[in-house]
Amino acid sequence: SAIELMVLDEVDSTNAEIVRRRQDPSTGRIPVCIADCQTAGRGRRGRPWQSPRGQNLYLSLGLTFRGSFAMLDGLSLVLGVAVAEALEHQGVAGVGLKWPNDIFVGGSKLSGILVELQGELEEGVVKVVAGIGMNVHMTDAVDVDQAWSSLARAMPEHRWCRNELAASVINSVLGAVDEFAERGFGGFRERWQSRDIFAGKPLVATQGELSGIGRGIDDSGNYLIAEGKELVKVRAGEISLRVQ
Ligand code: BTN
Repeated sequence: SAIELMVLDEVDSTNAEIVRRRQDPSTGRIPVCIADCQTAGRGRRGRPWQSPRGQNLYLSLGLTFRGSFAMLDGLSLVLGVAVAEALEHQGVAGVGLKWPNDIFVGGSKLSGILVELQGELEEGVVKVVAGIGMNVHMTDAVDVDQAWSSLARAMPEHRWCRNELAASVINSVLGAVDEFAERGFGGFRERWQSRDIFAGKPLVATQGELSGIGRGIDDSGNYLIAEGKELVKVRAGEISLRVQ
């Protein structure tokens, strides 16, 4: 699949840029936007995403799918697998996934993914923006409200090249997305599960009324929690989980 690559010095948000780009007539190629910094980078659940200049990777892809919005929970996990596999391909060890799709290394977050719906193009065709933020050389001066990692912290001896990382992530994502569109989530369940950082851990839902042991995902990407003998299913977007 051919891409149309936009490389920007500065932008509010690469996700927002993809939305704007798609107002113009379609080129038939997959729009991809990379920026050196973002002035209004956004994270999941309405949180900001700190996006200092020259340090990290901020990239978004405009994807189109045949199907319904219901497939998007699966897509979000597929993207997590794609980013994890790209990192492993670059030699990073111990990459973990925190449901639904945060990428962890050494116990803290290295990369986050934001999937946004842009709408229905026509009956049965949905437009999605997939944004990926990855900490590469982020300095301690950046004020982030949660523990974070970066590739430079995780592997200080390695010289990280953001261009190479971007190429690797884009290739991995496009391959995974094609596979997902053709064959569904099935081939991703085990690839997600083998990196699950919640497996076997005591968990609580942030809403509080749910707690139990992490048991991985079902074949649509819902998270399973063992509450005594009962297995409770949690849908992405409904609840967030953390270790107790
Ligand atoms: C999260 O909260 O974990 C998701 C973070 C997603 C950040 C990326 S950076 C590139 C793209 N543009 C944005 O504004 N957000 C995503």
